[in-house]
Amino acid sequence: MKHIIFLLATFFVFITTSCTSDSEDDLIEAVENQNDTNEDQNSDPANFVTYVDDIRPILQSSCVRCHGNPPTNGAPFSLINYSQASNRSNQILSAMSRSNGSPGAMPPSGRLPQSTIALVEQWIADGMPEN
Ligand code: HEC
Repeated sequence: MKHIIFLLATFFVFITTSCTSDSEDDLIEAVENQNDTNEDQNSDPANFVTYVDDIRPILQSSCVRCHGNPPTNGAPFSLINYSQASNRSNQILSAMSRSNGSPGAMPPSGRLPQSTIALVEQWIADGMPEN
């Protein structure tokens, strides 16, 4: 009887430890795979944020009402083409990131969603591709 209990106990320890280490390996592998995927996404130009697909629509819907050609409502410059947007990309990001009501916060009507601001940030990080 003692033998059987000992055998069962040994078997139990074996099963639990081998399961634990297996699942840890799986986890580490899963994390590594995810890191690989993220790297691929960031370095693959097909996934870059572009002016034509992502940034122009933001500027058109939220900015050119004032930053048009010519600029209106006191806006100091226009933001209607790629060179204007890329030359001022950092200024645009900083104005869009300011909190509501602070001087130069853009658009003046209120901060756009964080996901929209993040697109501008990523566009700059991607090297501001036009398309
Ligand atoms: C209702 C009109 C209006 C809209 C819409 C608007 N702006 Fe402006 N913008 C202004 C005016 C007026 C100024 C100059 C006064 C100031 O800085 O507040 C300005 C200034 C700026 C500046 C310079 C601010 C600084 O301090 O560096 C930037 C950059 C800018 N706007 C970007 C944008 C962007 C990007 C959008 C859209 C997300 C936008 N604006 C939408 C009116 C507007």
